[in-house]
Amino acid sequence: MFHTQNNRIRVLVADDQADVREALRLLLKTEGIDTESAASPAAVLAALETREFDALLIDLNYARDTTSGQEGLDLLSSIRAKDSTVPIIVMTAWGSLELAVEAMRRGAKDFIQKPWENARLLAILKTQIELSQALKRSQRLEAENRLLRAEGRPAMIAESPAMRPVMDLISRVGPSDANVLIMGEHGTGKDVVARTLHALSPRSGRPLVTVNAGGLPEGVFESELFGHVKGAFTDAKVDRVGRFELADSSTLFLDEIANVPMNLQAKLLRALETGEFERVGSSATRRVDVRILSATNADISAEVHAGHFREDLLFRLNTIEIQLPPLRERKEDIPLLALHFLRQSAQRYRKNLTGFEPVALQLLLDHPWPGNVRELDHSIERAVLLAEGDSVRASDLGLRQARETSLRLDDMGLEEVEKVLIQKALARYGGNVSHASKALGLSRSALYRRLQKYSL
Ligand SMILES: Nc1ncnc2c1ncn2[C@@H]1O[C@H](COP(=O)(O)OP(=O)(O)OP(=O)(O)O)[C@@H](O)[C@H]1O
Ligand SMILES: [Mg+2]
Repeated sequence: MFHTQNNRIRVLVADDQADVREALRLLLKTEGIDTESAASPAAVLAALETREFDALLIDLNYARDTTSGQEGLDLLSSIRAKDSTVPIIVMTAWGSLELAVEAMRRGAKDFIQKPWENARLLAILKTQIELSQALKRSQRLEAENRLLRAEGRPAMIAESPAMRPVMDLISRVGPSDANVLIMGEHGTGKDVVARTLHALSPRSGRPLVTVNAGGLPEGVFESELFGHVKGAFTDAKVDRVGRFELADSSTLFLDEIANVPMNLQAKLLRALETGEFERVGSSATRRVDVRILSATNADISAEVHAGHFREDLLFRLNTIEIQLPPLRERKEDIPLLALHFLRQSAQRYRKNLTGFEPVALQLLLDHPWPGNVRELDHSIERAVLLAEGDSVRASDLGLRQARETSLRLDDMGLEEVEKVLIQKALARYGGNVSHASKALGLSRSALYRRLQKYSL
């Protein structure tokens, strides 16, 4: 815990007395903390120009003026002007509490009175370093989330460990022009991912164009994709623009790609390779600039092996592959998803529902969800319609009652139990950390630490 990602912790110690600097260096060394020392305010500012520190431990009195602390206070202000976040702990003479208060007002995080007590000094220092590291981590997470919350982006809930690499990939390839093949069982969110990728891209100003290869007869499908001209076939009474043309300068989402008939796969391949195609019944070649997203719940490599899908077409489509795990492999997301769907349905049906009873939530966690997120959505919608009172009860869900919770608890480790309790509390209070922490008898910060620990 007490290491930054790859580096050791580094603290800048500033005091005009060499023996104080040396004593602090030795003390921090016992904790595996590296120190750098500065003998004057100028040396502190110079050191800050060259390196980053995890914390600063600075005296307020320097040789020029040894009691007022004014030099130290000025130093504090100069540091804060450069760096608003690095934790600063000031050292003051015994009994100069007013000075300590003034230092905190100017941005010091805590203070130590000299002569110091080693244990107390270390405790204060570690706390401040941990707090600032936690803050940095949460700021980074927030920046990532902001990216994922781009304009027009559909709601996509995915906080579980199994979804983390998926979300990471989405945020990285979304803004690119790369063709992406999205794979996953029914209802795992392939549509949501396609819309998210498009929303993150520079093409998002234009609408995403979708064509479903599953539901269309062969002849219709070709004209759906490429359009046709009047008279191309009996029913072609007027010219028709195909989806490829509609998606020019935008994104085309080919859903259920495994169902594209073999003879159309060659035409599709050419369109993908060159951006060129002809409307059905016309010999005029048209050219478009289209990014292709595709999705399937079939085992596409098996389709290739079986000779049902062209390998060269697959290689055009799957520059990047995103594999969505089934919901049963990301149960950590169930409470948040359930709450999301509860809010949606409650609003739609004007019901005053705020959460789930613990047993109901346990049922949701235990269910295998063969229909994945869509099945969860539908179950909650039905429960919302049935529910009376302010929370959804187990009986509203219409799922089979799982084995007794206590039996399951017997099989769980302490940490697993803690995690489940936290998930329940969060679901119950709509993700409100203050309320959840109160219900659990934890401080907010203690709960945050656990949320981080369990990746909740
Ligand atoms: N991560 C998620 N967060 C919020 N809602 C989701 C998420 N994943 C899926 N959903 C919702 O679940 C439902 C099913 O998702 P979607 O249509 O994207 O699945 P799919 O994989 O395309 O399914 P199919 O294979 O049947 O086409 C939709 O209502 C969608 O909004
Ligand atoms: Mg779909």
